[in-house]
Amino acid sequence: HSQPIPVITIDGPTASGKGTVAHRVALQLRFHYLDSGALYRLTALSALRHKVSLTDEHALSKLAEKLQCRFEGDQIWLSQENVTAAIRAEEVGNTASRIAVLPMLRHALVGLQHSFRTAPGLVADGRDMGTVIFPSASLKVFLTASVEARAGRRYKQLIDKGIPANMDDLLKDLRERDARDSSRAVAPLKPAEGAHILDTSELTADQAVDQVLKWYAAVRKQV
Ligand code: DC
Repeated sequence: HSQPIPVITIDGPTASGKGTVAHRVALQLRFHYLDSGALYRLTALSALRHKVSLTDEHALSKLAEKLQCRFEGDQIWLSQENVTAAIRAEEVGNTASRIAVLPMLRHALVGLQHSFRTAPGLVADGRDMGTVIFPSASLKVFLTASVEARAGRRYKQLIDKGIPANMDDLLKDLRERDARDSSRAVAPLKPAEGAHILDTSELTADQAVDQVLKWYAAVRKQV
């Protein structure tokens, strides 16, 4: 009887640092990595490019189903175009958050997400990895940080990239995005049952990574 392929899920709000932590955990364990938010961002970008109405659930689901995307290392491709930077734009993130409320669209992305579960294992980050997409995950983590800590990190990221940023706008955006991601009817942002909660407000990324690896080592001992 073969063992199921292990999955570690890392869910949490926008700018909680889950992307960084999940990616580093995957590198340490030599596991594959799924940035599920990127799939919603790719769908959003595709919708903006094709001028698909953001309320046309059918058309948006079709886009999601036929998403021609490729992940190569840390580079992301949509059809023939490298969209690694384009999908990180605030407009794309906001659009992704808006269309992510649509049940048909979420359903259209399930198979693609499951396809990332290949040997020797997967680290998946998002909002509903532990609750909906990989309910049988070996380890579930819910990463949070205060809205001020998250806005501070985003501010620094933007300034470092030479992009002007305003702390009050960032706080407002984060609060709005949190409210939308947490209050939607389908797959809202919430800790999965049995999830380990990790507040990273006062932690460095490396400290958060170490904690996740410790939890995973403990889980592995149990089997
Ligand atoms: O993690 P992120 O900021 O790249 O995600 C962008 C948006 O996609 C987020 O605001 C909500 C949505 N999303 C989702 O609904 N479910 C996921 N598993 C991942 C992201």
